[in-house]
Amino acid sequence: MEIIRIPHIVHDTSNGHLLHGRSIGFVPTMGALHEGHLSLIKRSKDENDITIVSIFVNPLQFGQSEDFNKYPGDIEGDAEKLRKEEVDILFAPDKSLLYPEGFLTRVEVGKLSEKLCGAFRTGHFKGVTTIVAKLFNIVKPTRAYFGQKDFQQAVIIKKMVKDLDMPIDIVVCPTIREHDGLAMSSRNLYLNEEERKAAAVIYRCLVQTSEMIKSGIISKEKTRRFMKEKLLAEPLVREIQYASIYDPETLEEVEAADKEALLAVAVKVGGTRLIDNMLVKA
Ligand code: PAJ
Repeated sequence: MEIIRIPHIVHDTSNGHLLHGRSIGFVPTMGALHEGHLSLIKRSKDENDITIVSIFVNPLQFGQSEDFNKYPGDIEGDAEKLRKEEVDILFAPDKSLLYPEGFLTRVEVGKLSEKLCGAFRTGHFKGVTTIVAKLFNIVKPTRAYFGQKDFQQAVIIKKMVKDLDMPIDIVVCPTIREHDGLAMSSRNLYLNEEERKAAAVIYRCLVQTSEMIKSGIISKEKTRRFMKEKLLAEPLVREIQYASIYDPETLEEVEAADKEALLAVAVKVGGTRLIDNMLVKA
């Protein structure tokens, strides 16, 4: 595996592969790699000639009071995992190479970025779309891989690619979970033992709500009430930011889950913000 830190070297390397007719699969990450990340990488390996993974903790997508400074990082451990997966290139740029002094441009996907997590994390998705657009321009992938775990992020990236005519296939891969259903996340490392156990309530809530919807109870009010009750049954759930049914394309809350709906949750367990979601059909 080659480790490249300089954007234009990745760019030239990618151009070389593309000129030889090789497809490039790309998995952007912020590191602290777990089985969720690795599932995207495996899929990219299956579907492309070359797989490039980036690790970059993007300051632009963190709010002032968020965890940028303590975001978990272990570049050596991550590189070892990527070698095992036989990734071709690890792109691990330095911040000053991606955001040199005087960097001004932002890429923003309007309304979609204000819904759900966007309402609680001002500027977050603008930071995500700006870095992902930059990474796409550097890596020039044929396909790029994102997790359903961050459903809103995937919807926004798809919209950006469509609106900006980027010739890239966005592939969304299923959420990988721990044995008790908790969605894998680098931020799970913040949970103490008690909080870690309590966090399983999120997946339980999604499963029970989807069963309720499948049995025919589909109104927004009932769904909201049911989800709130399930989540608050766990005393370590300190705050529910949202928990309801949404349109999977517009991300607007829907009155009833009569078509395919997105069940989505954001809560704080102890001091850690966790999100999860599930698609459900009545
Ligand atoms: P990060 O949180 O490191 O996630 C990188 C990718 O892994 C994302 O597409 C995310 O949805 C996916 N992922 C995370 N947990 C997963 C799980 N349990 N199962 C399946 N996929 C999972 O998302 C980001 O980084 C950043 O916002 C980024 C896109 C890299 C831009 O900075």
